[in-house]
Amino acid sequence: LKADTDAALAAAEDLRAWDAVRVGVLGKNGTLTQQLKELGKVSPEQRRERGAALNRLKDELASAIDARRAALEAAALDAQLAAERMDVTLPPRPVVPGLVHPISRTIEEMAAIFGAMGFGIAEGPDVEDDWRNFGALNIPAHHSAREDMDTFYLPGTDAQGRRRVLRTHTSPVQVRTMTSQEPPLRVIVPGRTYRADHDATHSPMFHQVEGLAIDRNLTLGHLKGCLIDFLRAFFGISNLPVRFRSSYFPFTEPSMEVDIGWNRKTGELGGGGDWLEILGSGMVHAKVLANCGIDPREWQGFAFGMGIERVTMLKHGIPDLRPFYESDIRWLRHYGFNP
Ligand code: PHE
Repeated sequence: LKADTDAALAAAEDLRAWDAVRVGVLGKNGTLTQQLKELGKVSPEQRRERGAALNRLKDELASAIDARRAALEAAALDAQLAAERMDVTLPPRPVVPGLVHPISRTIEEMAAIFGAMGFGIAEGPDVEDDWRNFGALNIPAHHSAREDMDTFYLPGTDAQGRRRVLRTHTSPVQVRTMTSQEPPLRVIVPGRTYRADHDATHSPMFHQVEGLAIDRNLTLGHLKGCLIDFLRAFFGISNLPVRFRSSYFPFTEPSMEVDIGWNRKTGELGGGGDWLEILGSGMVHAKVLANCGIDPREWQGFAFGMGIERVTMLKHGIPDLRPFYESDIRWLRHYGFNP
């Protein structure tokens, strides 16, 4: 039995096979266990002698079995260590550092500039209802602005029976802010906006930053000062010419478009003699204040909105809009920023 067990143990290549040998010898129905049980059948003298011999054999077998287990475990550990071995002298693989997309960079810069003027950040959902995107902003149904904006409508209506749209501008967040916060308030709203428009200079998804300030005794002078300071800080040109031109938006009265000076031929910003339209603005229309539950006799507001891609292209001399959305690492290496 000892010889057979030794042979079986040597043949057991893993713990599972080893356990089968162990059970076959020392288990409840194992060969040795069987022989011990049969001691009851022999005479008392024989039993003493044979019993002592069997117990010695049992000890020998048990230690052989234990030794094999230890050997198998050591071998398994060696194999694992060999498999997991690593060469700590190898040079590391190059890590390609991430870069900040120019759109994110512009939003961060605007947050910093307006933050210093006391503006917080507000956000709203890309899927809006047509009341916040149009109605509350004094853009009635069938108004040309709804068609101008080439709205993407989603099927169905929300719980209040309002049509759902992909917001065509960040202005609905003006409504969300005024209906959820008490004035005075100052926020900027960066975010994605959508219009069914696609060519070399338009993308169906683009980004805007909205601004909204509500306070007592706010005037056009505050609006102008705020935007002139912002534009000069953002473009880093302390004497950047800024021009306010009378315009029309349904949600502001009066409304003004804002131009900055540049040189049309060279594309250089500053006092080049030409004007470039850069943002829309105005005093929040009394109807819009009232629609949002703010008393226009007590509170005034100014608001503005601008396209992020456009100011980013101007600031950094990026010639083409389309690569903004193409995730081309070569473009990002060229125009991206270190975090
Ligand atoms: N929402 C306007 C647009 O998308 C911009 C704007 C915002 C104008 C706020 C005035 C005030 O063109």
